[in-house]
Amino acid sequence: MQAFTIAPSILSANFACLGEEVKNVLAAGADVIHFDVMDNHYVPNLSVGPLVCQALRDYGITAPIDVHLMVSPVDPLITRFADAGASAITFHPDASTHVHRSLNLIRDAGCQAGLAFNPATPLHYLDDTLDLLDNILIMSVNPGFGGQTFIPHSLAKIQRARQLLQQHAKPITLAVDGGIHVDNIAAVAQAGADFFVVGSAIFTSTDYVATLARLRAALQQV
Ligand code: DX5
Ligand code: ZN
Repeated sequence: MQAFTIAPSILSANFACLGEEVKNVLAAGADVIHFDVMDNHYVPNLSVGPLVCQALRDYGITAPIDVHLMVSPVDPLITRFADAGASAITFHPDASTHVHRSLNLIRDAGCQAGLAFNPATPLHYLDDTLDLLDNILIMSVNPGFGGQTFIPHSLAKIQRARQLLQQHAKPITLAVDGGIHVDNIAAVAQAGADFFVVGSAIFTSTDYVATLARLRAALQQV
């Protein structure tokens, strides 16, 4: 069976006890922690910064932390998050003046590098960056908030990204972020994704073990 990764987005977690929330969701079977960074400039919301990433590491979280930068400018925060324990850093190419430089900053800091695509951001940024990428993140909502509805057009975009990756020698993760639930995760996988960011569907559920099991069971049908 294909390897699928489920990454709970902490945006929908209870920030009053974030360390416990992250421990619990990892104990429930999550693979990676998705860490959403919003700056009230690139997106109309404000979340958390590198201090909180470092706090999770200090709390004993050893799982990969997948930092999703929804910020502009990008570069100053890359180094800060690498120093704070990020495993992977993904940014939006339209938020960086020099995409190539930002990707190299991430790689030079020893982190996996990713590009995120909003629903209306064209994939052409991939034409000259694939060799520098470990991850591609297709946004299936407009970034800024948890709990939004999956935009159906995203499925065709995931398929197009998967086709591009099939022509590329190096393995690159194809992630999808926004509105993923038990009832649509299989369709997203069918379109070609292998990494699923899931926020509200997990953190608003009362039983993380049961919800993760249901997500994995849905993926087994693919
Ligand atoms: C949206 C964030 C997402 C969000 C996903 O801007 O990038 O990671 O938390 O949350 P859900 O799964 O609730 O759409
Ligand atoms: Zn995200």
